[in-house]
This record gives sequence, structure tokens and C-alpha cells, in this order.
Amino acid sequence: MHGKDFDIRISTTHRIRFTRDAFSVQNRMLIDLLETNGHAKVIVFIDSGVADAFPVLEARVNDYLERMPGFVSRGTVVQTGGEFCKRDADTLQTAWDTIEQAGIDRHSYVICIGGGAYLDVIGLAAATAHRGIRFVRFPTTTLAQDDSGVGVKNGINAYGKKNFLGTFAVPYAVVNDFVFLHGQPEIDRRAGIVEAVKVALVKDAAFFHWIEDHCDKLTQLHPHTLEETVERSALLHASHIAYGGDPFETGSSRPLDFGHWAAHKMEQLTDFELSHADAVGVGVALDTIYSWKTGRLDETSAMRIL
Ligand SMILES: NC(=O)c1ccc[n+]([C@@H]2O[C@H](COP(=O)([O-])OP(=O)(O)OC[C@H]3O[C@@H](n4cnc5c(N)ncnc54)[C@H](O)[C@@H]3O)[C@@H](O)[C@H]2O)c1
Repeated sequence: MHGKDFDIRISTTHRIRFTRDAFSVQNRMLIDLLETNGHAKVIVFIDSGVADAFPVLEARVNDYLERMPGFVSRGTVVQTGGEFCKRDADTLQTAWDTIEQAGIDRHSYVICIGGGAYLDVIGLAAATAHRGIRFVRFPTTTLAQDDSGVGVKNGINAYGKKNFLGTFAVPYAVVNDFVFLHGQPEIDRRAGIVEAVKVALVKDAAFFHWIEDHCDKLTQLHPHTLEETVERSALLHASHIAYGGDPFETGSSRPLDFGHWAAHKMEQLTDFELSHADAVGVGVALDTIYSWKTGRLDETSAMRIL
């Protein structure tokens, strides 16, 4: 037998940006972020929950697209978001159809504005159409801004299993627009904070202490404190992916999955009635108790976390 091993190294940039009101006429962040060959097409997929909560969003996005010099607007599409859109391949299929009909090629951009579930579906559509189209995420929930949206995974559920079909694909960019953060229902604004607690616990003790010190303000959803929490969590998350040594999770150690083993199972067992954020809250509590009971964490620390 003979042969040769070829070492293929892939270098890519994971761009994370923070802004406010990205689609206002004065905001040039997106125009400056995207490269164009003079006629790059842009299509924007919007989660219906976000479109409902921000009734002028679609018109503003279309207006912004028309004003982007060097780009060709392919308009907006609104689809039902939430866990519903990951349950089967229907939303994914419609997204592929739309991408094909709009003539989106590998020089073009697919932008998605939505919660973690919808970003997962459109991310999978973009990663697989033409074997990968440049994808820009606009996460709109606390959980998506501080965790899922800044990751490099996408997927849909299949065979009763969470995220059974999906890919690892680094997005072209992730834009956390704080207007979406503050515009969501209070319950979702609060629920996603658990992912910041998780990443602080596994990566940054100083951040955990900061969260403890700001607990009252976070409980009141004080806007600036929430923004700082989201920003620190998102950057820690992205930094772990970029510098943690295993961006595509080929090894067995997955620190960012703290609290997620039980969470995914609970979501499955409740037929996804339990939200991901709430399931992670329970999962983090469970893993904290396991850590304490197996002697890896002292009782006082465990009680502080709980
Ligand atoms: N790809 C990853 O690495 C990764 C990591 C963690 C979680 N996830 C996935 O993320 C999903 C959970 O995401 P989520 O917590 O963002 O919830 P979600 O996407 O299910 O959204 C919840 C609801 O809120 C609506 N919504 C979204 N943004 C809104 C806004 N600003 N205002 C009003 N309504 C809004 C949506 O339409 C939906 O009905 C799960 O499917 C989970 O598996 C993915």
C-alpha cells in the first residue's frame, strides 16, 4: 500500500459586531462590513416573530438594501420562526427554493434576522446551497445574541433528535443589534442570560463575579447591564471557538455544553414545549449539583451558582 497525507489548513475570520439600529439610513456598519464585486446580491430572511414585534422592520430593511452601493437587492422573505421551523425540513426547503429563484451565488449574501432556531435553519440553507453562501446572522433574542448566534453551527431536528441534521460553518459575520435585544418579550430577554452565566462559569471567573455584583440590575433587565452581559458573553463564546483548539468539536471535551446534556434531552422529552433557554437553566443547575456531589465543586460555590 502506498499513499500520501495532505495537510489542508483552513483559515477563516469570525466577525462579531455590536451596533444599534443597523437598518437606519445613518448606520453604515453593514455596508462597510460586506465586500462586493460591484454586483453582489443580498437577500434577507426574517423570522416572523421579529417581523411581528417590529412592524416597520421589513420596509426599513428593503429601503436599506436599495441604498447599498455596489449591491443588488433581492428583497426580504418572512417565515415562521421558533422551534417550529426546525421540526421538519419544510422551512429549509422553502429557503433553498427562495435562494435558487433569487439567483443567489457564492459572491452573494444571505442575511438572516431572527431567534436561534430560525438562524439555525437559514444557516443550514446558506451552508448547503452552492456548497456555501456567505451568511450574515442578526440574532434577535438574548440567547441568540449571547450564545447560539455567535457560534459556528446550524441545523434542524430530525428522527426526534435535536440538531440531527446540520453543519459546522463559520458565518461571514454576526451582528448583534441591541434594538432587537430590548424589543423582545421580557420572558425571553431574561431567559437567555443563563448562557452568559454558563460561559462565565466555564471560562471566566471574573465575569461570573461581575454577574453576581450586577445581579439586581440584571434582574431588573437594566438595558446597559444587559448589553454588557450579552457583549462579554458573545466575545467569550467566540474566543473559545477561535482559540480553544477545537472549533468544530471533533474531540470529546465541549466546555460550552455545560448544562446542555440534560437540556437537549429535556427539550426532546417535552416535544420541545420547554424552551432551550429554560432547559439550559435546569441543565446548568443539574451539572452544578453533579459537580458538587462528585466532589469537584465545594458546597458554598454550588449554592452561589444555584
Ligand atoms: N447553532 C448553535 O450553536 C445553537 C446553540 C444554542 C442554541 N441553539 C438553538 O437556538 C434555538 C433557541 O433560540 P432562541 O432562544 O433564540 O429562541 P427561538 O429562536 O426559538 O425564538 C423564540 C421565539 O421568539 C421570537 N423572537 C425572536 N426574536 C424576537 C424579538 N426580538 N422580539 C420578539 N420575538 C422574537 C421567535 O419568532 C420565536 O417565536 C434552539 O433551537 C437551540 O437549539 C443553537
